[in-house]
Amino acid sequence: MYKLKKAKSVKGELRVPSDKSISHRAVILSAIAEGKSVIRNWLSSEDTLATLQIAKALGTKVETKGNELMITGRDFNFCEPDHVLDARNSGTTARLFLGVLATQEFFSVITGDESLRNRPMLRVVEPLRQMGAFLDGREKGNKLPICVRGGKLKGISFFNKRASAQVKSSLLLAGLKAEGITEITEPYLSRDHTERMLKLFGANITQLEGSSGHIIKIAGGQKLYGCEISCPADPSSAAFFVALATLLEDSQLILKDVLINPTRDGFFRKLRQMGAYVEYANVREVSGEPVADIVVEGGRKLKGLNITKEDVPSLIDELPLLALVMSLAEGSSMVKGAEELRFKESDRIKAVVENLRSMGANIEEYQDGFYIEGVEKLKGANIKTYSDHRIAMTFSVAGLVAEGETTIDNPECVSVSYPNFYEDLNKIILQT
Ligand code: S3P
Repeated sequence: MYKLKKAKSVKGELRVPSDKSISHRAVILSAIAEGKSVIRNWLSSEDTLATLQIAKALGTKVETKGNELMITGRDFNFCEPDHVLDARNSGTTARLFLGVLATQEFFSVITGDESLRNRPMLRVVEPLRQMGAFLDGREKGNKLPICVRGGKLKGISFFNKRASAQVKSSLLLAGLKAEGITEITEPYLSRDHTERMLKLFGANITQLEGSSGHIIKIAGGQKLYGCEISCPADPSSAAFFVALATLLEDSQLILKDVLINPTRDGFFRKLRQMGAYVEYANVREVSGEPVADIVVEGGRKLKGLNITKEDVPSLIDELPLLALVMSLAEGSSMVKGAEELRFKESDRIKAVVENLRSMGANIEEYQDGFYIEGVEKLKGANIKTYSDHRIAMTFSVAGLVAEGETTIDNPECVSVSYPNFYEDLNKIILQT
C-alpha cells in the first residue's frame, strides 16, 4: 500500500528509465544477429529481464556491466530450452519470442503470469501458423502456455488490422528466416522501433504507403550483424511526470533524453493541443531514433479534446493518464476506437472508469473508450491497480493532484517498467 496526498508543485530535472519497447528489441535483435552487440542505457525492469532470461535460456551469451549489456548473437542458431520459457507479465516478450521460436525446429513452450495467460495470442499464432510453424496452446492456441515447433517458414501477406506493433514485430522476425517476402500492411502506423532497429543491424526492409495503409516488406534469408545501440528514455514513463507538472501550478520540469518518435509521442502532442506547455529542446538522433529534452510548465488552462481510432497507436499506453488530464480539463472529452485497452495488463477501460469515478470524475464507459466531462477538482480515494503498472502510476499522479488522501493497493507492480518510480517522484515534489 502506498499513500499520497496533494503536492504543491514539482520542480527539477529527471532522466526517466530507458524505453521498454526498445530495450526488449535490442536484446532480441542482438540475440538473433551474428557477432557481438553492445546495448547502452538498457532498461532493467521485470518485463525486460523476462526477455533477457529467455534469450539466455535459448543459449545466448550475455555479459552485464551496470546498465550496459554485451551480447554474443547466435545468428538464429538457438538451443532447445530445457524448461518452459516464462514471459512473466510481458506481452512484448511473449509475442516477439513466438515469432523467433517459429523459426526454430526444436520444441519450446512459453508461458506467463496470470495476467499474461489471459491475454489473446491468436493474433500472432494464426499468421505464424500460416507461415508454416506449428503452434498450439490453451483455447485452440489463443492463450499461454503455447508450444512451438517451427522452421521452414514461407513469407505471407498479412493485414495487421489492430495496428499492433507486437504482431508486426513478431512477423518481421519470423520473416527474416522465411522463404520469400513477408509483407505486413497496417491501417495506422504502429510503433516502428523494430523496423528502425532492423536497419541498424544491417537488414534491408521496404516501407511504403498503399491504398489500405502502411506496407512493410522484408525478404527472408537476410543476416543481421551485431552493433552498438543506446536506448533513450521512455516517453511512456516520462508521460507521468509531464502530466503531473502540467496539472500542478508553479511547476517546471525537464525530462532528459526522451524518445520522441512520432509513433510514440501522441500524448505530448495532444497535451499541447489541450493547452499545456510541453516543448522539445535539443532534438537529436540516437541509434536511429529521434530524442529530445522535454520542457514542461504547469498551471495552463486545459480544454477537453477527442481521440479517434487513428490517434490511438501513438498514445495507446498513455490513454489512462490522458483520461486523468481530461477529467480536470474544461469541457468534454471523448476517446473512441481504443478497445485494445481492454486486453492490456488489465482491462484498462474498466480500471480507469472505476478509479476515476471513485475520485469524483464525471466519466462514462464505452466498449471502446470513454466520455468525460471535466470537473474542477478530484478527491483522494482507495485505488485498485489490478496489478497493472500503468494504472498504479496514473493514479499516483492523480493522488498528487487530488484533495485529501489516496492509497494505491499494489505499488510494487510499477517494477514492470519503472522500478524506481516512487523514488523519482519524491525527488521532484515540493510540498506545501
Ligand atoms: C508494444 C506495443 C503495444 C504497447 C505495448 C508495447 C511493443 O502493444 O501497448 O505496451 O513494444 O511493441 P500492441 O502491439 O498490442 O498494440
